[in-house]
Amino acid sequence: MARFLVTGGAGYVGSHLVLTLLERGDEVVVFDNLRTGHRSAVSPGARFVKGDLADPVALEAVLADGRWDGLFHFAALSLVGESMREPMRYLSENAGNGFALIQAAVRHEVPRFVLSSTANIFGSADTPTLAETAVIEPASAYGESKRMIERALLWADRVHGLRSACLRYFNAAGADPRGRLGEDHRPETHLIPLAIDAALGRIPELTIFGDDYDTPDGTCIRDYVHVCDLADAHIRVLDRLDHASVSYNLGNGAGHSVRQVLESVAASLGRDVPARIGPRRAGDPPRLVACSDLIKAEAGWAPRFADLREIVDHAAAWRLEHPYGYG
Ligand code: UFG
Repeated sequence: MARFLVTGGAGYVGSHLVLTLLERGDEVVVFDNLRTGHRSAVSPGARFVKGDLADPVALEAVLADGRWDGLFHFAALSLVGESMREPMRYLSENAGNGFALIQAAVRHEVPRFVLSSTANIFGSADTPTLAETAVIEPASAYGESKRMIERALLWADRVHGLRSACLRYFNAAGADPRGRLGEDHRPETHLIPLAIDAALGRIPELTIFGDDYDTPDGTCIRDYVHVCDLADAHIRVLDRLDHASVSYNLGNGAGHSVRQVLESVAASLGRDVPARIGPRRAGDPPRLVACSDLIKAEAGWAPRFADLREIVDHAAAWRLEHPYGYG
């Protein structure tokens, strides 16, 4: 049995990882300030510590509490659009908290650090898919803040030997297939849950952020990847870290436009998604699709739910069952 710290373990992706770790029989401590996470998203088998990464006393206390086999860092502001309205907040908070956590991890000899990073570190692509070798040019202040933490991890490895994995998620989506966990952001800004809400009449309509992009139907293309497949990738990279630090892009390699996602939601629920066209949203690259060959080859990652319709079905099932999210 291994022992892990999960910052942001009450959030969307973090909570799914916590459940996966517990199912493996690992011991898990969740550190979360509950600003965007939910206490009830933390599975009962985990120990929960309410605390903020910006509080050095709280951070020191949680890390000093025993030996660790690794640390997963999710806790962060994570909205592309918001980061373009408040760039300095994103840069200082996300990067500052990340640096403090890396320093604490080094101090406490945590052997492995897995970072929840993002596809938004890539501005856009000249190639159909983005591999790890693609040019890094963050499209938003959010992407930049994650890139800053990636860079800090490089130095923590070079100087202190802290092994790290930077996992660049494309668009996390879906929910636990058994319905135990799901996606609940407040306010919700993500495409799939909003489209579900629009189809169910919980919001009047969805706004499509721009239909004049240079894409086949004019709307942005994203690579939606199941949240449980992301959780699985976190576990698979742990063994890789015995050899070297790594960076991996995580997606299904299939691009879907905003309009295609709305069609998938409509088909899943058997209802139309009322939508109107609005202006573009700052910080949105036209197309982000992953090439995940490297993590498949090196860590044996094999997504179980690569089909968009299945991803949408899981998201819809959770939202139908939990109209008020985590309550
Ligand atoms: N979109 C709309 N209308 C909406 C919401 C979204 O048209 O009401 C569009 C966006 O413009 C974008 C696509 O749907 O083209 C997906 O948008 P999301 O807000 O669901 O997700 P993002 O692509 O903005 O960002 C997500 C995560 C980030 C992560 C990124 C990686 O929230 O943390 O995926 O691609 F960095």
